[in-house]
Amino acid sequence: MLRRYSPRNDDGVYFLSGNSYQCPTLSETLCVQQPRLWVRVSFAKGGRGGISLRKRACPAGSRNGELVEGEIKRDLDAIHQFSRLSLNACIIFDTQSHLRLKSVIFTWKFVDSKMGGAPMPYERLFTPIRINNLELKNRVVMAPTHDGLTTIDGIVEPRTIDFYLKRAKGGVSMIIIGAIAVNPRKAPFLLRISDDKYIPGLTQFTTRIHSETGVVICAQLMEPPRMSQNWMQNINDISSEDITKTISYFVNGAIRAQKAGFDVIELHAAHGYLLAAYLSLINKRDDGYGKTGDGRIRIVRDIYEKIRSALGPGYPLGIRINGDEFIIGGNTLAQSRIIAGKLAAIGFDYISVSAGGKHEDSPGVHPKGGSPWPYPPISGYSGYRSVPTAYMPEAANVYLAADIRRTIRQAGYSTPVIAAGRIPYPELAEDILRDEQADIIGLSRPLLRDPDWVLKAKSGREKEIKRCTYCNECMDKLIKDEPALCVFLNE
Ligand SMILES: Cc1cc2nc3c(=O)[nH]c(=O)nc-3n(C[C@H](O)[C@H](O)[C@H](O)COP(=O)(O)O)c2cc1C
Ligand code: SF4
Repeated sequence: MLRRYSPRNDDGVYFLSGNSYQCPTLSETLCVQQPRLWVRVSFAKGGRGGISLRKRACPAGSRNGELVEGEIKRDLDAIHQFSRLSLNACIIFDTQSHLRLKSVIFTWKFVDSKMGGAPMPYERLFTPIRINNLELKNRVVMAPTHDGLTTIDGIVEPRTIDFYLKRAKGGVSMIIIGAIAVNPRKAPFLLRISDDKYIPGLTQFTTRIHSETGVVICAQLMEPPRMSQNWMQNINDISSEDITKTISYFVNGAIRAQKAGFDVIELHAAHGYLLAAYLSLINKRDDGYGKTGDGRIRIVRDIYEKIRSALGPGYPLGIRINGDEFIIGGNTLAQSRIIAGKLAAIGFDYISVSAGGKHEDSPGVHPKGGSPWPYPPISGYSGYRSVPTAYMPEAANVYLAADIRRTIRQAGYSTPVIAAGRIPYPELAEDILRDEQADIIGLSRPLLRDPDWVLKAKSGREKEIKRCTYCNECMDKLIKDEPALCVFLNE
């Protein structure tokens, strides 16, 4: 019932959780510098059952007094007028002196017995967040997932809409549509935005999702490197004409995405794609688009500035980067932190942190195209890090997001950070948010496996969530030019 929430601090942060509906008791000797304690108790109609004692910044206007037990009790009494409630008691105190926090006994009853059994909600997961002028209703977004559900030429099909509609109805606040190609080179079954002719299909897609669910839709824009039989374009050999082209591909793609009704744009600067290659330490170009930290980020800055001036200051514009490339000679956190700081300063509205997926680490070749293939099963370690597989620990890449978030916060930026990678269940997602390791949780395979993941978490049916096994069989299907659907779900 009562567990120490933050074991690494000895500053008295407690978390009271679970179905602790009758008289949970906290009794603890605390070390505090001054015998003072701020207590704030708040409750709101429309919340769900649960009580928590959490560390939090003491809000302006909070009561400053000695404890306080009575005060809490008095406020608790008032909750009886509500049939549903949420209650937060924030106890904030300094360390290093002595204060005995006596038994604090919380007692209350649910007036409405139908609500009485409601479990502890995932409070953080269901707290809205703003990205630029948009509010996301909760902190779970569908991470970009190239699904192979288009025509061979990359045009939206009814099955594309059905697939995302199901995930949108499942309660996520935003769907990031994965890897939409901005360049005209052919690649089978890849969603495209490289020409105006793609706008009608994409418009149909966004209109349907908006009208039936109101979910925010983001277009992840990307350009892959050129590839052919056993060959892949090297970032250091790209011509300056091609750099100009890349910039205009992204800018035109963004303009089309806005016309087609996308609410947000994300630049794909992670994994094995071109923008990631520019950001990487392996970029040694000496034409101003490489070599130094500023040089490596320059193309992203150019693209950002042009898109911003085309779409206006209020249009949400995010970016996905690698926290670590997991290739020899590539970016590690040491470089990614600096990159993230610069991206926050440039003005990106969120930073999504992924990892790996670089072609340089790929020993295998795609059985059809003959090109290097970064993802499992024909992949090096880097490929596996982008879709952490069953043998890796849970939340395998979250430490990267946490580090980057901390770095940009220390630099004074409040840019939201998205973490993704093997976050199978809502308790873990909630912990990541509560520990301030990330602001938003991205889910890909868990939503392939169970489109209703979020709804189930919200309604206390988390035990009914069908768990992804992280077998990566959905990825294997992409290699065979089949849609990346979960092998355990019939759809
Ligand atoms: C089938 C599949 C396709 C993916 N396509 C993309 C993509 O287009 N762009 C991208 O940034 N990440 C892509 N990813 C990576 C996911 O966004 C996500 O970061 C990764 O799967 C880890 O999250 P998860 O454990 O929730 O699946 C893909 C993942 C899968 C499984
Ligand atoms: S096939 Fe299904 S269970 Fe396996 S990784 Fe993909 S979504 Fe998860």
